[in-house]
Amino acid sequence: MPESVFLQMDAAKKAALARGLSLIDLSIGASDLPPPQVALQALSDAVWDPSTYGYCLRSGFTPLLEAVADWHQQRFGQKLDPARELLPLIGSQEGFSNLLLATTNPGDLILLPDPGYPSYLGAVAIAGLQTHLVPLQEDQNFLPDLQAIPADVAARASVLVLSYPNNPTSGVATPEFMQQAVDFCLQHDILLIHDFPYVDMVFGDYEAPSVLDAKGAMGCAVELYSISKSFHLGGFRLGWAAGNKDAIAALEQLKSAVDFNQYVGIQRAGIAALGLPRSHTRQDARRLMERRDALCQALRGTGWDISVPQASMYVWARIPAPISSFDFALDLARETGVTVAPGRAFGTRGEGFVRFALVREPAMLQEAAQKIAGFLKERV
Ligand SMILES: Cc1ncc(COP(=O)(O)O)c(C=O)c1O
Repeated sequence: MPESVFLQMDAAKKAALARGLSLIDLSIGASDLPPPQVALQALSDAVWDPSTYGYCLRSGFTPLLEAVADWHQQRFGQKLDPARELLPLIGSQEGFSNLLLATTNPGDLILLPDPGYPSYLGAVAIAGLQTHLVPLQEDQNFLPDLQAIPADVAARASVLVLSYPNNPTSGVATPEFMQQAVDFCLQHDILLIHDFPYVDMVFGDYEAPSVLDAKGAMGCAVELYSISKSFHLGGFRLGWAAGNKDAIAALEQLKSAVDFNQYVGIQRAGIAALGLPRSHTRQDARRLMERRDALCQALRGTGWDISVPQASMYVWARIPAPISSFDFALDLARETGVTVAPGRAFGTRGEGFVRFALVREPAMLQEAAQKIAGFLKERV
């Protein structure tokens, strides 16, 4: 399994602190915005309700799935059957890993984006899969060219992984792209996993499409959702899978041997959060957008040609100096206390880029940009 770059980053942060620098940590996408009060209250109440203390079987998670089905109906107009097309997860990361175990055999081939979310590689290693990397390139808006996948690879592949709005590139998809992906997967009998934790982190008029709205999607696709990003509750570990019945059934069977689902009190927190009006997540997205604008303007002011993302909580930027992404991130951390994620940590095609997480207020992002400008001056 791949080593986590964040351990190396941790050492660089310690070195900065030892030099008396204050840290501005933009390296990890852990949202700092406040979670909804109603969610916290629901958990707090549940802790004093003895009916929540036992193992959670299907009857225990039915209320969550009904709330999730209502959310899909309101958000996308989708009618999903809570009994067969939805399943609660202990976060979308857990769901991804167990879904691979449930639906593949060791040696099967998976099509993975490069760059991509690093934990995919760990999950693929656990499931013993072979990998074919699909490049996400800037000149193609970080969308894979599915027609460029060699015919023998497409014929052999069992799973295709997509995630839009994308981590780390901030790339976004259109409904037309989702349809192409579904058509490709139906044609080649491939399970399409769309990892969708950034569904609510969208800016301006942009709306992130659900793959389940594509024609034929319920025949081949599973979409993974999470309360981690939408409601700033990453530590609560709650999400859900939606989509193809057979894949959901396989995942439920596997999970029944592995876990007893998330604590019902946390599920109640999720129900409370999902019941909030859309204006709640829109307001949080507006705050992220202000941060995006502050950071992008400040970096552009230093002469860095930054593309402004339409969604996600990241700014993905090509490094404007002859320095590797690891050296950039580690040296920047040690010398200035500003930490960013090196692009290489997300795959070989991430080299040459860094990722900024929009997890601080605008003034601090501007301060970070000034420090970065000083750091870069000595290197260009
Ligand atoms: C693409 C992607 N998938 C999954 C996750 C993890 O989500 P969860 O907290 O629901 O496991 C993250 C977190 O950063 C992510 O960026």
